[in-house]
Amino acid sequence: MFSSNAQVPSSEKRVSDMFDRIAPRYDLLNQLLSMRQDIRWRRHLVDKIPYAPDGCYVDVATGTGDVIIAAAKAREEYSSFTGVDISESMLRLAGEKSNRQITKTPISFKIQSAERLAMAEGTVDCLSISFGLRNVINKPVALEEFYRVLKPRGKLLILEFFKPQNSILSKLFQFYFHYILPFIGGLISDKSAYTYLPQSVDGFYSPFELNEALRAAGFIVRSKKSFLFGGCRLICAEKPEGV
Ligand SMILES: C[S@@+](CC[C@H](N)C(=O)[O-])C[C@H]1O[C@@H](n2cnc3c(N)ncnc32)[C@H](O)[C@@H]1O
Repeated sequence: MFSSNAQVPSSEKRVSDMFDRIAPRYDLLNQLLSMRQDIRWRRHLVDKIPYAPDGCYVDVATGTGDVIIAAAKAREEYSSFTGVDISESMLRLAGEKSNRQITKTPISFKIQSAERLAMAEGTVDCLSISFGLRNVINKPVALEEFYRVLKPRGKLLILEFFKPQNSILSKLFQFYFHYILPFIGGLISDKSAYTYLPQSVDGFYSPFELNEALRAAGFIVRSKKSFLFGGCRLICAEKPEGV
């Protein structure tokens, strides 16, 4: 079931091609493979969005738009909501989904990379990235971009998978991620993409390394929440004032 030869995308184009391929079944598989826990995790992220009248919210690697739509519904005082992604197919689905929802402020969706955001410096009140940072090729550059576009005291919310630290749980998690997930993903969608998923978690920062990377980019980590025995974490960081 698990092929260690599976291609780990090495360029942004390969990443966007892969997400274009899996876009049609992405939501279905997400909910199936996480047993709908992803909905709960995203809700915790939305709860952390700061109050910001006339605020500007950006969701990077927005995918099919679940976070940005939930944010627009929960935070009506914001005056701008933008979801960006490098996959056209994911963004098309996000646009269709948001057209079916009622939000006070319309959401705009744009093709943009986390590594090269088009927003001006110091203009964003809150920036989120859920299950996206792992897929970004140059993560330190993306973190620097997040820092650049955020206002002083602006919030960065990261929701992401990690390898659990506890070794027994880590083995269970590894088994699920390396065998069950590619098997089900292969039946319903694209097997190579769902083989890439566990590899991307293996190759991602540990919680400690992410903490260090955030500090190196200039952020102060304000809070952390762990789900699934540490297999999924929500990290809230802030751009300090007076820089
Ligand atoms: C696993 S999906 C997560 C989607 C959504 N945020 C969610 O919570 O379901 C990862 C998304 O990251 C996007 N992505 C990967 N690299 C990116 C980059 N450099 N810039 C922007 N989006 C990127 C992919 O196209 C994909 O839509």
